Amino acid sequence: METVLTGITTTGAPHIGNYVGAIRPGVAASADPGTRSFFFLADYHSLVKGRDPDRMARSTLEIAAAWLACGLDPQKAVFYRQSDVPEIMELTWILTCMTAKGLMNRAHAYKAAVADNEAAGDRDPDKGITMGLFSYPILMAADILMFRTSKVPVGADQIQHVEMARDIAARFNHHYGETFVMPEAVVGETSAVLPGLDGRKMSKSYDNTIPLFAPEKRLRKLIMKIKTNSQEPGEPKDPDQSTLFSIYRAFATPEETAEMRERYAAGIGWGEMKQALFEYVNGQLADARGEYERLIASPDHVERTLRAGAQRAREVSRPFLAEIRHAVGVRPLG
Ligand code: TRP
Repeated sequence: METVLTGITTTGAPHIGNYVGAIRPGVAASADPGTRSFFFLADYHSLVKGRDPDRMARSTLEIAAAWLACGLDPQKAVFYRQSDVPEIMELTWILTCMTAKGLMNRAHAYKAAVADNEAAGDRDPDKGITMGLFSYPILMAADILMFRTSKVPVGADQIQHVEMARDIAARFNHHYGETFVMPEAVVGETSAVLPGLDGRKMSKSYDNTIPLFAPEKRLRKLIMKIKTNSQEPGEPKDPDQSTLFSIYRAFATPEETAEMRERYAAGIGWGEMKQALFEYVNGQLADARGEYERLIASPDHVERTLRAGAQRAREVSRPFLAEIRHAVGVRPLG
């Protein structure tokens, strides 16, 4: 049986990149009786990126509500908050001791932070970089390996992290004996590179996201702000260079997407395209938005759901961690 697992970092409001990259494929996978699925809120990951406690707590509620509003059935999937499963943190240390520092030196996120420092002419290339950022991929490996995950649906930027989880697992298995399952990243075709308002990858770090459940008016306003070029209505346009088209494609069926390609060739105006995109996305999200608002208004209900999920997660993580501890020699004496 296949085990699918993915997590979303709780650093802000859920956005349409989260929806297309994790929530929608996750909900679809969990409806398949041939898969076991684990979905979680990566709240300890969020400490790497921000230090605003209220924002973190709020984001946890919002992202949890988004999963549920989008149709996740917490009976079918194991749905939990990372910090409610302490075995993950304990595994993180064990894996940290199996991880080559050189492997972490090669992580894109760390390298990008060093490159920024160098570009800014800082004498210390590690300026402002915490050990949390540096070892972030090890925590992610623990998330994945703890549940014997085979498939990890993620955005293209996370592929390297899943490969690192494989490296770490292989090293552990080689040294201590077959323990971990080798995970594989699954990157959806259209979700691979969802661009944001400014055309760069949609990410909370770039502050260019479209919140998944922005009220209708705000959604329209944001879509109207998406960057285009100066081509006039009537001029044929290249859909593959268009942020509006990429977002449309992530929501629409292949047939609708092919039709839209023709409208680009026929010179659809940017204003008209923005209106079409707004109507399409809004139509897809309207029902879930109502449910989302109800859930945000009942945090107790969401809290109970997460705790029940953590209990189920720990039915797996507790005995497995006991095995792992035994394998490395952390054992009762008598
Ligand atoms: N690092 C992921 C991101 O920023 C979130 C994440 C944390 C994750 N742990 C995970 C994703 C485990 C998949 C599996 O998008």
